[in-house]
Amino acid sequence: MKIRIEKTTAPKTLPAADNPLLFGTIFTDHMFIMDYNSEKGWFDSRIVPYGPILMEPSAMVFHYGQELFEGLKAYKAEDGRVLLFRPELNAKRSNDTCERICMPTIPVEDYVQAVKTLVDIDTKWIPERPGTSLYIRPFIFATEPALGVRPSSSYMFVIILSPVGAYYPEGLNPIKIWIEEEYVRAVRGGLGEAKAGANYVASLKAQIKAHEAGYSQVLWLDGIERKYVEEVGAMNIFFKIKGKVITPVLNGSILPGITRRSCMELCGMWGYEVIERQISADELFSAAGNGDLEEIWGTGTAAVISPVGILRKGDEVVKIAGGGIGELTRRLYDNLTGIQLGKIDGPDGWVTEV
Ligand code: PLP
Ligand code: COI
Repeated sequence: MKIRIEKTTAPKTLPAADNPLLFGTIFTDHMFIMDYNSEKGWFDSRIVPYGPILMEPSAMVFHYGQELFEGLKAYKAEDGRVLLFRPELNAKRSNDTCERICMPTIPVEDYVQAVKTLVDIDTKWIPERPGTSLYIRPFIFATEPALGVRPSSSYMFVIILSPVGAYYPEGLNPIKIWIEEEYVRAVRGGLGEAKAGANYVASLKAQIKAHEAGYSQVLWLDGIERKYVEEVGAMNIFFKIKGKVITPVLNGSILPGITRRSCMELCGMWGYEVIERQISADELFSAAGNGDLEEIWGTGTAAVISPVGILRKGDEVVKIAGGGIGELTRRLYDNLTGIQLGKIDGPDGWVTEV
């Protein structure tokens, strides 16, 4: 793919070394854009100065939400290399979401090339303090100016970059999770396993409820029986029960996380039995009551590996791992971030140099 490059003539000031880099609040100098229409397919890939995008008020995305996004990160290794973590899996998942919400797919090589080229141009924006990285947000949205409910005939693919610190204000300290009983995020047959913006709109009401009660994130139950745990607002969830690693099985309403998959692979390599199955909130509370629920952690690009210290459902509240960070949670955090930063050799193909 040929990418036209127009560099900014007014580079911004980089954030100061002590800037806390609140998640997703600062954007770099450039962005990638590519257009699509049904006659030409994808065309005019370009990197231009970061800035507003001109759109028709009738653009379909504003009315029916035909939009998807991805999230990955670039890391600066100690030896100066710039590394990406399994970016082709984001490209593939983006294409899976495209299929589900009736958008044109993008060849994986072109997707990864676009990410790499943009990161390479804004490489000076990768922060280097421990726990920081350059968050990469690719997204695709419907641009056709029309109000009929049908797939758009034109789209834009955009990538923006944001230097970030921890996703949760708690950093690596354990977070408090609220099991939501009133609202659901997704149902089987719906959009749950797709990374469509619509899923996140569906989650807002419960997230506010959880925040008001002093909890960082919602743990969703299945939309049918409201019994089995599915995933957290911005991450997948894992439990260590009597030495075994358990995570909810992908059932169509859970996002197939890349960190989830990597975490399962690492635990498997370390000799843990890793089980994907349905697991009910009741089972979790009874395991906690018996002392069998040893650790809970969430996995995600933004969230990395996040220990869960408190779990609440209705009036039931349990403390996990004494409210601290479990041993396996810590090992996963250290190894995953070690691999991402190029300090530890991971399995073949996990890190790609820009
Ligand atoms: N689940 C949801 C709802 C998410 O938004 C994310 C974040 O991308 C994840 C899980 C974790 O996915 P990944 O590990 O690919 O970032
Ligand atoms: C990510 O981890 O990349 C996500 O997309 C989560 C996001 C909703 C902040």
